[in-house]
Amino acid sequence: MNVHESEKLAGILDARGYLETNERQEADILVINTCCIRENAENRVLGNLGYIKKLKENKRGLIVAVCGCMTQQKDAAQRIKARCPFVDIIFGTHNFFMFGEYLDAAEKGKKVLDILETEGDTIEGMRVKRAHGVNAWVNIMYGCDNYCAYCVVPLVRGRERSRKPEAILEEVEKLLDSGYKEITLLGQNVNSYCSEDKFGRKVDFARLLERAASFNQKYRLRFTTSHPKDFTDDVIQVIAHNPNIPEFIHLPAQSGSDRILALMNRKYTSKQYLSRIDTIRKYMPDVGLSSDIMVGFPTETESDFLDTLRLIQEVRYHNLYTFIFSPRKETAAYAMEGQIERAIADERFARLIEVQTKIGLELTEGLIGKSFEVLCDTYLEKTGVSRGKTRAGRIISFKTHADLTGQFLDVEVTHNKNTNLFGQVKK
Ligand code: 5AD
Ligand code: SF4
Repeated sequence: MNVHESEKLAGILDARGYLETNERQEADILVINTCCIRENAENRVLGNLGYIKKLKENKRGLIVAVCGCMTQQKDAAQRIKARCPFVDIIFGTHNFFMFGEYLDAAEKGKKVLDILETEGDTIEGMRVKRAHGVNAWVNIMYGCDNYCAYCVVPLVRGRERSRKPEAILEEVEKLLDSGYKEITLLGQNVNSYCSEDKFGRKVDFARLLERAASFNQKYRLRFTTSHPKDFTDDVIQVIAHNPNIPEFIHLPAQSGSDRILALMNRKYTSKQYLSRIDTIRKYMPDVGLSSDIMVGFPTETESDFLDTLRLIQEVRYHNLYTFIFSPRKETAAYAMEGQIERAIADERFARLIEVQTKIGLELTEGLIGKSFEVLCDTYLEKTGVSRGKTRAGRIISFKTHADLTGQFLDVEVTHNKNTNLFGQVKK
């Protein structure tokens, strides 16, 4: 979500004639697009601002902007203003389409601070400077209404709002016409997408997915993130039956303990979660699965943690994104009794990774000798090594004599190094 928002900010800068640089010292404008989902992301922003302060002292006219979800937190903009008076522009998640106007003011030496709304709209028609590559991101909705007890997103990104299907489909079609081979639909909870078409007919996520996957050419339509409570049979059917939607699902479980899931306000039990996985595998036996798992949620006991280990052993995910609970102000979990000591959370985290590494390695070794359709997304000219992803989202490296980025190739897996796969293109 943040990467794509940065592409929109880059689009505004591009339209004004600014060029991108990889060297901070060279820049005339520095924009920090922040995230506040966990504390360490927030600390990195403060660290970066410390460095930028020095740059600004040596370069008159350097414009510094801070935006994104951290600025949207209660009092955060005030804190940045007080601690970093050299910042020229501060704006929140609901205002980023206004960045050009803020720049107009900053270029004239004025400060633009505290531009924070609490509710946003679905802004259309923004120019986007996309990363060159095979994948393009497309927002289908903004905000989140789920209020998971640990999560700051609903507080900083506002109520859930879906874009109109026609606007989304037009964007997808244009991206395909301009050569993108992979489209990733974005939302905090894509499964609760809900809008109407121009005839007033309801369009839910299954219908949107079906239509976005039915353009008459070969491409991959991905989506993220899904919420298990809203992942309907209807969506599973659409994925299973549409060749343009690869069999890969990121379905965050968070925990395997029903007691913790209830405290987290996730609205499903581990049994219901596993039953979703069973249905998915019934229709797509080779599906690639990944998940977000958190340890150290308030009151988590050893027994709760063992439930989580059992869940990941039962599902056998290809990939896991693992987190230690990070208390975020204003969320329900922040003030909960029974906060877990850091040493205990660290120890559980290490065991979680150990178990997943073993599963990941076993799954990886099981792929040797098999062939997959790979969409090539990277070519390193120096070494002649290319990289790409299988439909199930596995990354494979292989040698090519030329840049085949954007092509669908038939690749046989020859060996692995840990969980990294290597292969060769079949003639
Ligand atoms: N602490 C730790 N992890 C968190 N996540 C969200 N909020 C927190 C938090 N306060 C994780 C969840 C979510 C992922 C994007 O980040 O697992 O699915
Ligand atoms: Fe946060 Fe995702 Fe829960 Fe929304 S669904 S509150 S974004 S974890």
